[in-house]
Amino acid sequence: MIGRVRPAVSNLASYTPGKAAADVEDEHDISNAIKLASNENPWPPVPEVAAAIAAAVTGINRYADNSATDVREAIGGWLGLDPSHITVGCGSSGLLQQLFMAYVDPGDEVVFPYPSFEIYPVFSTLFDAVEVRTPLIDHTFDLDAVADAVTEKTKLIFLATPNNPTGTSISVDDVRVMLSKVRDDVIVVIDEAYREFNDPVFGDPVELQADHPNVVVTRTFSKAFGLAGLRSGYGVCHPDIIRELDKVRLAFSVSNLSQVGMLAAITHEDAAMEKVATLLDERQRCVDALSAAGVAMPPTHSNFIFIPTGDATSDIALAMEKDGIVTRPFPGIGLRVTIGTPEENDRWIESFLSAR
Ligand SMILES: Cc1ncc(COP(=O)(O)O)c(C=O)c1O
Repeated sequence: MIGRVRPAVSNLASYTPGKAAADVEDEHDISNAIKLASNENPWPPVPEVAAAIAAAVTGINRYADNSATDVREAIGGWLGLDPSHITVGCGSSGLLQQLFMAYVDPGDEVVFPYPSFEIYPVFSTLFDAVEVRTPLIDHTFDLDAVADAVTEKTKLIFLATPNNPTGTSISVDDVRVMLSKVRDDVIVVIDEAYREFNDPVFGDPVELQADHPNVVVTRTFSKAFGLAGLRSGYGVCHPDIIRELDKVRLAFSVSNLSQVGMLAAITHEDAAMEKVATLLDERQRCVDALSAAGVAMPPTHSNFIFIPTGDATSDIALAMEKDGIVTRPFPGIGLRVTIGTPEENDRWIESFLSAR
């Protein structure tokens, strides 16, 4: 061991990203493997967005505008909000990290339903927080349990809707009831990474902020807009919270290319949403095929399907991997498969049905 690493870091398992398709091809001596493990958009960004990013490359001898003023104004205009309520992050994961940096001291409690996004326990460990996990009921958040888990020491609550990995959503009305039971000095983060795939019937959590300024909404251009590699996230919250979050963001971490990409993505939103509509059709086609074959699964409102395969999960994932399909297994719990292109979806459905 070189140096005296922090115990929080040495105790943390190294991050294991989803296997790359190329690794699986080498491992099983196959070709034509596909990765459906990271909830990425299967298609490249809208051509005009890609062109804007490419054109901005010659400017990267300069640091980006650290305040991302143009982007905040554009997002504010897009959402009908004052730009003082908008901030940006190096992906929405960057904003989640900033929330920990700004609000969590060692020993503070962080509450989240679990299973949920794997980064919440990772950051809790890294920041020496006490993580308080509440169980899901029928793969859906139990918001009473979340409210009950709050103590004097609670600093943050994380609610991902739609949730990763279950794909289930919670309604703004139900969150409002929960908020009425939670102290207003607890920051409640609504993580909407998959917002564009969600059913609008669940409502817009930004509306909660009028009565509950402790609500932070995080969103991203990674999924629906196909900009995962660019690291482009944004947050909507009270300017007082933004002031603290902006202090702790790594300077210039929202790069000039990322900022140009966000601006172009907003301008060309309609084209991206056409792709989203195709993905939603594909999602329905996959759900129908699985249901027709007797597979039970929670309703998905995201760009992936969660199949509760229980103890068979690892075996099924391995069998699918040998068919060249990389999924995201949660051993003992279930399998999460990202919706891909129509051809990819045909392949994974066929492979899953023969592997189960
Ligand atoms: C629930 C949830 N939140 C946030 C993110 C982070 O997305 P990004 O950092 O690319 O914006 C993800 C990515 O998988 C996610 O599943």
